[in-house]
Amino acid sequence: MAPITPSQFAEIPCRFKDTYQWLSTTTQLVLLLFLSLLLSCNSSMDPEPPEEEVIDPGNEIVDLVGAELNYRNHCGGCHGQNLSSFVEREWTYGNSFEEVVQSITNGYTNNGMPAYGATFSEQEIQELTDYILTEIDGKTQAMLEEENPDLSGLISSDDLTFRLETLTDKIPGIPWGIAQLPNGEILVTERGGRLFLVRNKGHLVEVTNLPDIVSEGQGGLLDVTIHPDFENNSFVYLSYSRANPSDSSELTTAVARGVLNGNSLSQIEIVFTALPYVNSGTHFGSRLVFDTEGYLYVSVGDRGRRDTYPQALDNAIGKIHRIHDDGRIPTDNPFYTTPGAVNSIFTYGTRNPQGMSIHPETGAVWEGEHGPRGGDEINLLEAGDNNGWPIISYGINYDGTTFTDLTELDGMEQPVHYWTPSIAPCGMTFVSGDFYGNWKNDLFVGSLKFEYLHRLKMNGNEVIGHETLLDGIGRVRDAQMGRDGYLYLVVEGPGRLMRLVPEQ
Ligand code: HEC
Repeated sequence: MAPITPSQFAEIPCRFKDTYQWLSTTTQLVLLLFLSLLLSCNSSMDPEPPEEEVIDPGNEIVDLVGAELNYRNHCGGCHGQNLSSFVEREWTYGNSFEEVVQSITNGYTNNGMPAYGATFSEQEIQELTDYILTEIDGKTQAMLEEENPDLSGLISSDDLTFRLETLTDKIPGIPWGIAQLPNGEILVTERGGRLFLVRNKGHLVEVTNLPDIVSEGQGGLLDVTIHPDFENNSFVYLSYSRANPSDSSELTTAVARGVLNGNSLSQIEIVFTALPYVNSGTHFGSRLVFDTEGYLYVSVGDRGRRDTYPQALDNAIGKIHRIHDDGRIPTDNPFYTTPGAVNSIFTYGTRNPQGMSIHPETGAVWEGEHGPRGGDEINLLEAGDNNGWPIISYGINYDGTTFTDLTELDGMEQPVHYWTPSIAPCGMTFVSGDFYGNWKNDLFVGSLKFEYLHRLKMNGNEVIGHETLLDGIGRVRDAQMGRDGYLYLVVEGPGRLMRLVPEQ
């Protein structure tokens, strides 16, 4: 097994642009500044660099100091900027001062919690601990929910005025993926392992008889989609973390399908398993989309084994796969005849792809993935592409060190867009149909870190502008076009299913 470094698990890193600020307060970050300059020099030598976005100055964290600043920059992306993941927490490793210091210092890298012993001084870790324990003292989830921004009125964007309609705010746990049925009801996955059907008027029913899902670390029940011919076959597809039948400490991303009958699945079959199983709780991916020809695409993350899997074709980890609806492998897949290659691979060199969408006009598959610290990417996928992870990247390691000096290389694809600092892009969708005027064919990406919806204004395959919407809404896990023509979101804290309703 490859050695694990904390950096491999960095999901939602800190913000580059704040480097200057830390510098004034924290001299040990001189190294980081140096490295970030090094990186930016690299990208400025790029003849045609993909556009780097300047994060809205309104989101810059400028007025905080010490522990709060460190929390916001290093922890809030995963644990919630308002410390939501610590409020009313059932602590795994204990919440005494010493235990929390231990957790922060040593991390639980196999489950996605980086170690900060090398990043912060002992005193900084103690201050962070004190900050967390003081801030959450006496707080409840209900109190946090009251602090959510009021998004009940008319909302103006650059090109459209809309209302946000909440179908339900009763989804327990972490809602992850959504799919609308032809009858208008909406399937919502909950990462802890439950599938819900949101009936009309927001009534929530649990769907029973799911495959055996392991909910651990970043894994659990992930995405859901329905068969293009659902009207006739009622097939629902689920992606989820599955345990190795012969060693339950090892997990992988798998896809099962079943027939939806009322509120129960039957005839469950596993149509895809990304081998090998890995003893890790991180980077499962995973999204499911059908393209216009009926092929199913499955995104699988690198499982925190950056240097072992994504660049090698002999395994299914850190790849996007293309399969038939029943799991058969299309013979025109790019590596179908390549000796030793896993023949479901469509593209490779991928880190943690939690967004995927089919372009409404070109039919092409687009993918969004979490970078390490910086370097979140949007990629336009073509059969056989190598998207470069971890050989080329616009990101750096969690502790500020670099793992590559390269941002481009022959034979590896450039992203259409990348974010440095990271926004932690999750579910994403192109807007299609005619409800949304000038938003048509733009790409909408949910941000876990900044808790907003990011709009990439598109002209064909090119990003021509940006807008952030619904600032502070909560961690946006999925964005999907419904069959009814509305743009739907699921958001954490509390678990809400919402749609954007354009104002006529
Ligand atoms: C990349 C995502 C990520 C980041 C960034 C992150 N954490 Fe964590 N953290 C996790 C996960 C996932 C766990 C749960 C690990 C487990 O259950 O084994 C965790 C667990 C913890 C725990 C133990 C909680 C318990 O139940 O006992 C503490 C304390 C903690 N984190 C503090 C922090 C602090 C402070 C920071 C910032 C310096 C931070 N984390 C940054 C993902 C993250």
